[in-house]
Amino acid sequence: MKIVSTLPELWQTRQELSGSVGFVPTMGFLHDGHISLVRAAKSMCDNTIVSIFVNPTQFSPNEDLDAYPRDLPRDFAMLEEAGVDLVWTPTPEIMYPDDFQTWVEVIEVTKPLEGNMRPNHFRGVTTVVAKLFNAVWPQKAFFGQKDAQQAIVIQQMTRDLNYPIEIVICPIRREDDGLAMSSRNTYLDEHQRRAAPILFHALSVAKEAFEKGERNAKELRQIVTHIVTSEPLTQLQYISCTHPKTLAELDTIGPEGALLSMAVYFGTTRLIDNIILKESITSSKQ
Ligand code: PAF
Repeated sequence: MKIVSTLPELWQTRQELSGSVGFVPTMGFLHDGHISLVRAAKSMCDNTIVSIFVNPTQFSPNEDLDAYPRDLPRDFAMLEEAGVDLVWTPTPEIMYPDDFQTWVEVIEVTKPLEGNMRPNHFRGVTTVVAKLFNAVWPQKAFFGQKDAQQAIVIQQMTRDLNYPIEIVICPIRREDDGLAMSSRNTYLDEHQRRAAPILFHALSVAKEAFEKGERNAKELRQIVTHIVTSEPLTQLQYISCTHPKTLAELDTIGPEGALLSMAVYFGTTRLIDNIILKESITSSKQ
């Protein structure tokens, strides 16, 4: 596994690769969710490139960039073990030189949900991902369904800017108790960690109701709210039931299904989770 930091080193190494390139952009402090993206890239592409960059522009002023967990030696060991070909670790100076003044902004699908709670977050994400795409020039790029809105925003950006890149969205990886894997889980104290699977539990109960025929979005939001707020350690920031592509809030779930998603605080730690509600092909044919 080769590790490079500067752009000329990356360009040189990228040029020497033959065959297709699968790209997994990350902010490091890797867990099995990231490794599942690497596995998907390896199964679909000849070469796998991973970037590790804690992107300052996607943090809001009230979010602690310096406290974001980092452990490069551990990340490198995990990526080596997973069979990654090339790791790129650009510095903030490479990505955002002093005179930096160009931004990439997706307008409509960044407005609700996370965009509403984290001003400028998606402008930071799309700008850095566009810069990473420009440098790595992959055929496929891999993102997790855990950040459902991010996946939709990046698909939109990729279409709008005519990148010849296929965006592959991989399923959420969960701990045995249902908690969605996230680098932020390490912020949870022992009690919060024990309580955190309530997010997936609430989403699963709502999904069961959907599968039994519930199509009223308000009812489904209420099911989740009731369960999450029954846990004293949680503070529900939002629960939302939207069209899975436009992210418009729904009254009734139609044939295209819905994205049921939420953000919940445990103390100062903010966790997000989601589930797709979609009629199965067998039941919609019946
Ligand atoms: O999902 C993430 O880890 C980040 O938002 C990404 C896509 C690497 C951009 O910094």
